[in-house]
Amino acid sequence: MTTENKLRHFLTLMDFSSDELKKMTDRSIVLKQMQKNGDIYEPLKNRMLGMIFEKSSTRTRVSFETGMLQFGGGALFLSPRDTQLGRGEAIEDSARVLSKMVDIIMIRTFEHEKLETFTQYSSVPVINALTDMYHPCQLLADMQCYQEHRGSIEGKTVTWVGDGNNMCHSYINAAHQWGFKLNIACPKGYDPDQAIFADAGDQVEIIRDPMTASTGSDLVVTDVWTSMGQEEEQARREAAFKGYIVDNKLMVQADNDALFMHCLPAHRGEEVTASVIDGKQSVVWDEAGNRLHAQKALLEFLMKKTPE
Ligand code: CP
Ligand code: NVA
Repeated sequence: MTTENKLRHFLTLMDFSSDELKKMTDRSIVLKQMQKNGDIYEPLKNRMLGMIFEKSSTRTRVSFETGMLQFGGGALFLSPRDTQLGRGEAIEDSARVLSKMVDIIMIRTFEHEKLETFTQYSSVPVINALTDMYHPCQLLADMQCYQEHRGSIEGKTVTWVGDGNNMCHSYINAAHQWGFKLNIACPKGYDPDQAIFADAGDQVEIIRDPMTASTGSDLVVTDVWTSMGQEEEQARREAAFKGYIVDNKLMVQADNDALFMHCLPAHRGEEVTASVIDGKQSVVWDEAGNRLHAQKALLEFLMKKTPE
């Protein structure tokens, strides 16, 4: 006889233990190999993932949809434009209704609080597929990517260059969970959230100068200067982030074996030069591809049944 595990959600990396996250990364690597071998593995047969997208997406949508299909299930793309969510149906009501019909739900939205409210009323697991505050799914793919290329990230130094945004917040959580040092090079006025930063203790440090922050680093990461929903601030941000570009000079400061990552989409000539993102140290395509395998491990973890 089998039974459902206690309901678990994935709103931030802090919802799982460090051990659970590391095991999930190991599992992603196994699932990737199984996929390469052409193995048929369908643990989620007839299960349905509801995908609510209030912001655009290429990687997140395609990886979740493909992952569910490979697992024998299906995925529904739900946008506010053509659901009642866009016509003001309460988030609480939407959560109660959708979770009566689908088996798991992922949401990409603006306010993190909206995701939390939805989760409170959902009777199935909920996954954060990006909010203004966090992007934990991307970190699963990034950690897998580092492990595949360089082994354990524990004790290494990672440098974040740019905005103290949703990705930066998830990197702060990851520093705590995977045990690495995180240097954040961000301009004044674009610091990460104070509470998230303070929780990380001395594992995370703000070093304004990107060159100093990158010195000896094992991994350099950046993201767009203007995130989704901040389009009106673009001109101000372009001025503020001048000098916060990952270029060859900055990569020379890092360790010789340093990798470069970017969650994508990227703007060549703004936060990163073409020579770096298309260069030898860049692993951005593997990183993007890992969204599929990392999220399959996440779906399997959240929906698995264990013997009583
Ligand atoms: N990195 C990422 O989440 O990409 P998408 O916005 O294309 O989903
Ligand atoms: N910080 C970016 C990440 C995109 C995947 C944004 O929120 O738009």
